[in-house]
Amino acid sequence: MSVIHIRGRHGLNGEIRIQGSKNGVLPIMAGALLHRGTTVITNVPIIQDVLCMMGILEYLGCHCTLEDHTAVIDATYAEVAPVPCAMSGQMRSSVMLLGPMLGRFRLAVSRHPGGCCLGNRPVNLHLDAFRALGAQIRTEGEQICVFANRLHPATIRFPYPSVGATENAILAAAAVSGATRILGAAREPEIEMLCAFLGSMGAKITGGGTSCILIEGGVSLHDSTFEVNGDRIVAGTYLGALLRSGGRLLLRGAAASQMEESLRLLSSMGMEIAVRPEGILAKMSGRPCACDFSTGPYPEFPTDLQPVMMAGCASADGESRIRENVFEKRFSCAEELRKLGASIIIEDRFARVKGRHPLHGARVQAKDLRGGAALVAAGLAAEGETFVEGYEHISRGYEDISRDLAQAGAEIALE
Ligand code: EPZ
Repeated sequence: MSVIHIRGRHGLNGEIRIQGSKNGVLPIMAGALLHRGTTVITNVPIIQDVLCMMGILEYLGCHCTLEDHTAVIDATYAEVAPVPCAMSGQMRSSVMLLGPMLGRFRLAVSRHPGGCCLGNRPVNLHLDAFRALGAQIRTEGEQICVFANRLHPATIRFPYPSVGATENAILAAAAVSGATRILGAAREPEIEMLCAFLGSMGAKITGGGTSCILIEGGVSLHDSTFEVNGDRIVAGTYLGALLRSGGRLLLRGAAASQMEESLRLLSSMGMEIAVRPEGILAKMSGRPCACDFSTGPYPEFPTDLQPVMMAGCASADGESRIRENVFEKRFSCAEELRKLGASIIIEDRFARVKGRHPLHGARVQAKDLRGGAALVAAGLAAEGETFVEGYEHISRGYEDISRDLAQAGAEIALE
């Protein structure tokens, strides 16, 4: 198993090109299934979750290629088939295939999706949306079967703005003739991206990125080419790394307009940030100030950046407080950060982090994707050598975190 080996306490200086968005591209790839033809997606990150999604699409009869960050998905001959457990269990986004399969075939079968262990991750809101459109649901153990003789447009009201459920509702409704309204929709930029992608295929959708989305479904779709935006979470991860390492980074392709709350928090901790046409330019010197923040649905601070900010707080000047509002169990990297010398007390959904300087190197274990990236960020700021195990979690979402950071002057390698 690969291990990331870091010799800490080198500043970050240089430029990193931000990869395409993981959480943007996965529902888009699922959406390609709606069209009996060819979809070209550019700026696709080469990460495990994308490869897994391609594997599932091929299993369903699509013809897929991925070259130079461009995916070509021909879904002409796709067929309905139960997504095997070994595939759906690998990532949460396999659940995103239920919506387009239901829309296209009126039948979708999958296992309860896998993904990072962040606590209980039910799919009740996804299933409620399908029911509202006229589908029936049968669950047997881990198997979910969604089917309908006839689907009809509906008003879908979400009591919580779930990202995945909003995406699934859009994907299913795009194939249902008539006007469907989604109220209480999630407003994440990845949803706006999905709506823009479906629009590029001919779908008629308005309101993506707001809490009320209108889908005029059932229109015929055509071949299209769509470019995925830069990954705001990867950009935030590298800013989180800079927070403690210090230095000057240009993040090429980072979309500052999607990161307002994150940039505000980083500035409050002492980072100088300038938004440039080509991306984000950030400078950091000295120890970060402690901070107080909580996570929430967009436009609030993203839960996906909470672990890397926790790593920043671990060596900040003073005591920081974090409240995790989105997932039940998203403090799993705290235990590993303690091995690097961090002082973190967890009480339910709260974390109290007393900044210590410097942290020291150790052998640590990534237990989930963003927690793993946070350990890498912490290792960069620690005295001595850090070994981060569990690379299989990190490679689900980061194309090559060691390459990117080494390019900016870090002493880091994948071994
Ligand atoms: C998406 O997950 C992202 N994944 C996550 O990114 C991200 O952390 C999350 O949104 C929140 O921003 C992808 O886009 C592939 P949710 P998703 O449905 O769709 C509860 C990463 O690190 N809920 O908005 O699963 C749920 O339990 C990943 O890149 C229900 O109760 O998130 C959670 O507490 C991890 N019932 C909250 O809502 C449901 O049916 C938010 O989940 C669905 C969700």
